[in-house]
Amino acid sequence: MFSRSARLYDAVYASIRDYPREAAELDRLIQERRPGARTLLDIACGTGAHLEHLTGYEVEGLDLDPEMLGVARERLPNVPLHEGDMADFDLGKRFDAVVCMFSSIGYVRTAERLRSAVSSMARHLEPGGVLVVEPWLSPEVWVDRHVGAVFVDQPELKIARMNVGEREGNLSIFEFEYLVGTPNGLERFNERHELGLFTVEQYLEAFRAAGLEVDHDPEGPMGRGLYIGSV
Ligand SMILES: C[S@@+](CC[C@H](N)C(=O)[O-])C[C@H]1O[C@@H](n2cnc3c(N)ncnc32)[C@H](O)[C@@H]1O
Repeated sequence: MFSRSARLYDAVYASIRDYPREAAELDRLIQERRPGARTLLDIACGTGAHLEHLTGYEVEGLDLDPEMLGVARERLPNVPLHEGDMADFDLGKRFDAVVCMFSSIGYVRTAERLRSAVSSMARHLEPGGVLVVEPWLSPEVWVDRHVGAVFVDQPELKIARMNVGEREGNLSIFEFEYLVGTPNGLERFNERHELGLFTVEQYLEAFRAAGLEVDHDPEGPMGRGLYIGSV
């Protein structure tokens, strides 16, 4: 997944996501449903960019990728960060809020693992706790062979990342081609990402099967929607 590009992740996504604003909105959603919520777990926390701005909480994070966790540990040396698979993890504790942002849930790939991931997240909620999941695209809105490109232009870091998204059944496949320029020279590499395309009904069903009541906001932070569950 992101192992080769973890050190570039923040530069690539800086222009795409507004982490301070998203953290403030998460806080609003959580406090509305569970006033006084104090503990929070970020699933697929990546480089810790949301955690950094969730300053009102005692936070922890979990991610599958050791390279992403390495960047998060440099950013947040005092935050407990766990390596694990969101579809099957047990931290032996519960939180007032569990969040899983930026479509990371899509990486579970299959509907069976979607259910298992949502139920693992739900098992980490305190009674009355809140689960917020930002989904990946549903099959109806996926546009096949869309050309994606991101360009970073900093004084000592230039990145061009391109891909043509493809669909195989209910999997969306991205073969990202990176060209990276630094004072040390130019580097080229590619990375393959596979994300499951799940319907709104599959997400809702996964939340209900985990014993949660669920609201669906079709917009969310960047038009992909947001699911908000509570015990
Ligand atoms: C698009 S990034 C999002 C990172 C972060 N949440 C953000 O908003 O910037 C997706 C993240 O999901 C993680 N990931 C993918 N599959 C995972 C799994 N099965 N369990 C836990 N994390 C996973 C990746 O390592 C990566 O850090």
